[in-house]
Amino acid sequence: MTNKILTLKEYFQKYDESVNDPKKFWGSIAESHLWHKKWDSVVDWYFGGKDAPNVKWFVNAKLNITENIFERNLPQRENQIAIIWEPNDPKQKEIKITYGELFQKVKQFANALKKIGAKKGDRIAIYLPMVIELPIAVLACARIGAIHSVVFAGFSANSLSDRINDAQSNIVITSDGVNRGAKRICLKSIVDDALKTCPTIKNSIVLKHTEEKINFESPRDIWWHDLIKDVSLENKAEVMDSEDTLFILYTSGSTGKPKGVLHTVAGYMVYAEYTFKNVFQYNEGDIFWCTADIGWVTGHTYIVYGPLLTGATSVMYEGIPTFPDAGRFWETIDKYKVTQFYTAPTAIRALIAQGSEWVTKHKLDSLKVLGTVGEPINEEAWKWYHDLVGKGNCPIVDTWWQTETGGILISPLAGITPTKPSFATLPLPGIQPVIVDPDGKILEGNNVKGNLCIKYPWPGILRTTYGDHQRCFNTYFATYKGLYFTGDGAKRDEEGYYRILGRVDDVINVSGHRIGTAEVEDAINQHPKVHESAVVGYPHEIKGQGIYAFVTCEKLTDEEKKNIENEIKNTILKEIGAFAKPDLIQLVSGLPKTRSGKIMRRILRKIGEGDATNLGDISTLLDPNVVEEIINGAKVQIKK
Ligand code: WTA
Repeated sequence: MTNKILTLKEYFQKYDESVNDPKKFWGSIAESHLWHKKWDSVVDWYFGGKDAPNVKWFVNAKLNITENIFERNLPQRENQIAIIWEPNDPKQKEIKITYGELFQKVKQFANALKKIGAKKGDRIAIYLPMVIELPIAVLACARIGAIHSVVFAGFSANSLSDRINDAQSNIVITSDGVNRGAKRICLKSIVDDALKTCPTIKNSIVLKHTEEKINFESPRDIWWHDLIKDVSLENKAEVMDSEDTLFILYTSGSTGKPKGVLHTVAGYMVYAEYTFKNVFQYNEGDIFWCTADIGWVTGHTYIVYGPLLTGATSVMYEGIPTFPDAGRFWETIDKYKVTQFYTAPTAIRALIAQGSEWVTKHKLDSLKVLGTVGEPINEEAWKWYHDLVGKGNCPIVDTWWQTETGGILISPLAGITPTKPSFATLPLPGIQPVIVDPDGKILEGNNVKGNLCIKYPWPGILRTTYGDHQRCFNTYFATYKGLYFTGDGAKRDEEGYYRILGRVDDVINVSGHRIGTAEVEDAINQHPKVHESAVVGYPHEIKGQGIYAFVTCEKLTDEEKKNIENEIKNTILKEIGAFAKPDLIQLVSGLPKTRSGKIMRRILRKIGEGDATNLGDISTLLDPNVVEEIINGAKVQIKK
């Protein structure tokens, strides 16, 4: 397999090459792709200006990413399975779709989109459960040059409409319903709600999946199966510039509404394939399973693009880890003889809590590599995964990256880089991380701790935040001049290994879902009886972090007090989605504020950790007494 590193020595060589001559390094990797026209220059960039990131990769090259999945990999993979779809209900039959069949379906749906007027540059919202039509829709957009904006099907109507309006999407693709474990959710009614406030949407394409009874509004709504009827299977891919947009994916930050992280065609393509092959050490015939949802970046890069560009077989699963029981992952691994398995620490911790026998009754002898992503993995979970699931034989790749980075940046290469529990270990070739102190001074050498930045672009870096480049600059490039700031803290140990310490901004990571505390506060404040709120993350055994909300309300009767928690949770459900519901809600008479009115979240975070001894200086607070009150009524146990 081209561009695959096979030994540790080779890794170090490639790493040096990639730093000494990045253009040569990435240019040679990109040679293996299919181009209509090659690049004039490998990279043009400048991180130092007010318009940063000013980054172009493979300048002036022309291509289509789907030709790199299909035309490049066919005909030798015509009959190889591209995607195995495992249904929510194990009694239902799986789907195995070959590269040849998938290509037909992508071309057909691409033509169907064109039939209703979709064209290059349109932003198409995709709000689908984990069904085979989701990757088909994604690739059909890429085929015609439309920009896909996938919205996780757990988001509420308000969140969906915010995303549609921000991107000014003209089409939304959805389904009648979703199967999630024993639950069934009517997705179409959420879309109907959202579309009340989305004037740009001309059509919604509806997939029949759960046979839910739905409201159908012709001519706006069109059934997927009607749309593809009599549509030609011949389709020539749109020729794209390397820097044309491939997709937008919304993600949360410290402030304001989620922003549309924007990725372009060529750089993302090269980076997705390179990192997939190398981190997971994919070999011909392997079966790769990433358990993420395609609604998040992990699914984009490591269910759809990375594996399919490589010509791999990728498993996608419709359901949840504990349905119908806690053995579902392990049973599915045996069923398909999965070789590489990639999941989130939160899923591992949830399964540990169900007991080891769910694992030990399965063979799991096909497994070669285990991966984790999305949050720091604690040592106990790492060991359980390594010893029990991998039987001590499978290297664990703890992969650190972000929506903004397009692909994995820091991670072991499976079986090549020696691992250490809870360390993401070393940067991939092409990645130049630095650790800075609060003043932005780069801390050289080993045994240092600070904020994690990257000082040189890689092909998968975000290019902007949709419609607001200034915001992109402010978020990632204004804190430390000339550096991309990740928002994460990290340490580099005596061996030069990186350990990610978690977010240093007001973003929390709940079950691997990235949530802005400001977003949750804004949602809580929508409740008519709420005056004000402050939200922090607190340590949660399974979720990694839980959501702790401190809320001040108008005077409530006893009856109202009883209901307010549920009402607040329902407000979040409506504004964001179930995954952002607070775990703990504490009603307080006031929040700890400075005299200038700023909420001191630092104090609340400490209380959330159960630590009332290290609150720091509280004398500058407007009303120091509220701290005592909050500690006395805390919803976590306080060590005094
Ligand atoms: C966190 C997910 C520790 C980190 C791919 C980052 C991690 C945020 C790891 C991005 C890891 C991701 N160890 N923390 N291996 N991987 N994170 O955009 O805080 O959903 O900034 O992308 O997840 O989350 P996002």
